[in-house]
Amino acid sequence: MPNTISTDLDQALALLQAGELVGIPTETVYGLAADARRPEAVAKIFALKGRPADHPVIVHIAGAAQLDDWAQDIPDSARKLAAAFWPGSLTLILKRKPHVPDAVTGGQDTVGLRAPAHPLTHALLERFGGGLAAPSANQFGHVSPTTAQHVYNEFGSQLGLILDGGPCQVGVESTIVGLTGEQPTLLRPGGVPAEAIEAVLGVKLIHHQKADSAKLRVSGLLDSHYAPRTPLLVGPLAALEGEAYRRFEAGQRVALLHRSQMLQAVCGAESVAMPLDPANYARELYATLRACDGGRFDVLLLERPPEEADWLAVNDRIKRAASGWLG
Ligand code: TXA
Ligand code: MG
Repeated sequence: MPNTISTDLDQALALLQAGELVGIPTETVYGLAADARRPEAVAKIFALKGRPADHPVIVHIAGAAQLDDWAQDIPDSARKLAAAFWPGSLTLILKRKPHVPDAVTGGQDTVGLRAPAHPLTHALLERFGGGLAAPSANQFGHVSPTTAQHVYNEFGSQLGLILDGGPCQVGVESTIVGLTGEQPTLLRPGGVPAEAIEAVLGVKLIHHQKADSAKLRVSGLLDSHYAPRTPLLVGPLAALEGEAYRRFEAGQRVALLHRSQMLQAVCGAESVAMPLDPANYARELYATLRACDGGRFDVLLLERPPEEADWLAVNDRIKRAASGWLG
């Protein structure tokens, strides 16, 4: 294991206090963290990721007690959601305090706040006291990392330290809810189901397609995102089986990622069985895409999961990762 991967909290704290970057585990995906109060530290995140500078990053805090350090005019709905879901996989978009650097907010008058549930990073945040600006720890547009080794594979020794918190338990990014408009808005489905948020608020969330998205810059909403480098085609299993066969005949190396318990071997394709339930599927999705990426296959064929509410976050990520659709 590379010596930049460790569980040394003291070293992580020292690097962050010195304005350096650290890879951190969260329950959703790994983050690339810097002191959110220091624009020159946050700038290093953008440089390393190759991410456009006008994309805002989430500020990670220890808990609801820090909400007022970063946000103002905080609605009751935000306090209710923080009480119900923090620490956890929910990011709240709120009106920012004036001191929050433009490098963090992308120049917008809002800030995204989340208290992650991973014990190692929670302990780090408690000791750090401030906020950690952290996007997912991957090159811009690439699949998010769910292990410390994935982060190392993205950045190598350019990153001084990756805190190893084991594999992420949720596996897809946090749910993002906008609370600065007239009505609460679901900006990105994720680890916390929309229905659970609606149950706490007592109202339905507006989905971002229906909201006024003109002024929102949410990089997770760009079309090509979370994508493996190998072409990924998504469709119903029957269409994929025919496609697998045709491509094998044409000399291609094919992986077939499916949820069938009865699938007969498809001629020439490597069969990759995916979990049947949405929670386990989410936990394994990115690691599986990574394991199948990197030149082993010419094409990845992925069976489309059901279009049901508890598959919302998984389907959202698959849609953005896909390079094409079949059937
Ligand atoms: O689970 C997660 O949210 C992970 C872990 C590391 O916490 N983080 C993550 O960060 O997914 P990132 O940067 O890959 O995606 C965060 C999303 C981006 O689409 C960004 O544009 C949006 O949050 N965002 C952050 N601040 C925002 C703001 N003030 N207004 C609108 N969108 C914001
Ligand atoms: Mg990301």
